[in-house]
Amino acid sequence: MRLTVIGTGYLGATHAACMAELGHEVLGVDVDPEKIAALRAGRVPFYEPGLGELLVKHTESGRLRFTTSYEEAAAFGQVHFSCVGTPQRKGSDAADLTYVDTVIESLAPHLRGPALVVGKSTVPVGTADRLAARLAELAPAASAVELAWNPEFLREGFAVQDTLSPDRLVLGIRSAAAEARLREVYAPVIAAGTPVVTSDFPTAELVKTAANAFLATKISFINAMAELCETAGADVSVLAEAIGHDARIGNRFLRAGVGFGGGCLPKDIRAFAARAEELGTGRSLAFLREVDAINMRRRDRVVELARQLCGGSVHGHRVTVLGAAFKPDSDDIRDSPALNVAARLQLDGADVTVYDPKAMDSARKSYPLLGYALSAEEAVTRADVVLHLTEWREFAELDPHRLASLASHARIVDGRGTLDASRWAAAGWHVRVLGRPPAGVR
Ligand code: UDX
Repeated sequence: MRLTVIGTGYLGATHAACMAELGHEVLGVDVDPEKIAALRAGRVPFYEPGLGELLVKHTESGRLRFTTSYEEAAAFGQVHFSCVGTPQRKGSDAADLTYVDTVIESLAPHLRGPALVVGKSTVPVGTADRLAARLAELAPAASAVELAWNPEFLREGFAVQDTLSPDRLVLGIRSAAAEARLREVYAPVIAAGTPVVTSDFPTAELVKTAANAFLATKISFINAMAELCETAGADVSVLAEAIGHDARIGNRFLRAGVGFGGGCLPKDIRAFAARAEELGTGRSLAFLREVDAINMRRRDRVVELARQLCGGSVHGHRVTVLGAAFKPDSDDIRDSPALNVAARLQLDGADVTVYDPKAMDSARKSYPLLGYALSAEEAVTRADVVLHLTEWREFAELDPHRLASLASHARIVDGRGTLDASRWAAAGWHVRVLGRPPAGVR
């Protein structure tokens, strides 16, 4: 089938390459000529494991091409996937739908024949109904043009795997023809046993926001338990393991730490709560405000621990932050807890040095005033306190003995709970782990 994928960020670039992998002819569309030039040359403009290989494979096979022209896209595609972002609106918790609206406004006037337009972005419930009406108004072939809503659940770092073998496909459709079309697009994925859930538009939109709200709530739940553990002298990692054995609770997404960040969970729960308020049912999602607050307090806690370890103030102390990406296997620094903590400590007068295996360029661009090192060892050299805030495997494999000899003071806050605290303590480190009693005080 001939598909277009509009918007070539994390979601769109991955979707385009994966659709080519499924055997379709794909045209990626973006208004940013630099991004398009990079993708045409087989270069992914961000770090995502496995995506580069797929992009090269299919730009070479000729199944995947890129353009900045909506006219070309409209003439080419039988199915058009809209994969643009819905960031948080400035000065508000609501989602900014400018890009989603622009796709319809730019594409629809060129649709002169049958086409299915498929929204994949995370949007406030009610958006798809509105866009369908707009599509009908603007498309010359209106009676042959239809909208569908097919939310995307991919995780950064696993984007290719999550697209080719998703947990489920959700198809928000208004006609049997639209459903049949989408089933044809995803035929190999469905044949591999992926469950398909069909629904109306509002349900499809809500599935996505509900899933993210649940995940955020699960993380904030365990982080609230971490707060209690810190006060009561208990250990949240043991608590999480023990409650996770109950299959109804499950142990995934139950890692306490400095909390969630990234381009999705924080802004999606805010937009979800804001939308509920608009709809007059704000109380239903009022708890998401608390989920957000718990999450942000974990960042405060790391700042507080850094202060304590520096004797009451970080002013004039050298602080090393290990990690800049909002999570490992990504170079995405959007709403990164690590950089948020780093910037706050710097404002408090600390001399902050950051190291991350992949996110250095984006961190430098957004936080030019922080110090940067080219390796974990360089970053830790002469540190007064080390903060481990993104759990890259590289950090778990560091040699605490060697690092103790490089640091000015061997003190570390493990904000992700993935370092072997007893090994670090045995190497002479004063270790503080969020949600756990102190170890190795010296
Ligand atoms: C998330 C959803 O998982 C995905 O389904 C949706 O499509 C987009 O948003 P992503 O933002 O890529 O994906 O990251 P995810 O792996 O979900 O992690 C989100 C944040 O939660 C990260 O900052 C991570 O460090 C944190 N996290 C995750 C925890 O703090 N504890 C956990 O147990 C799990």
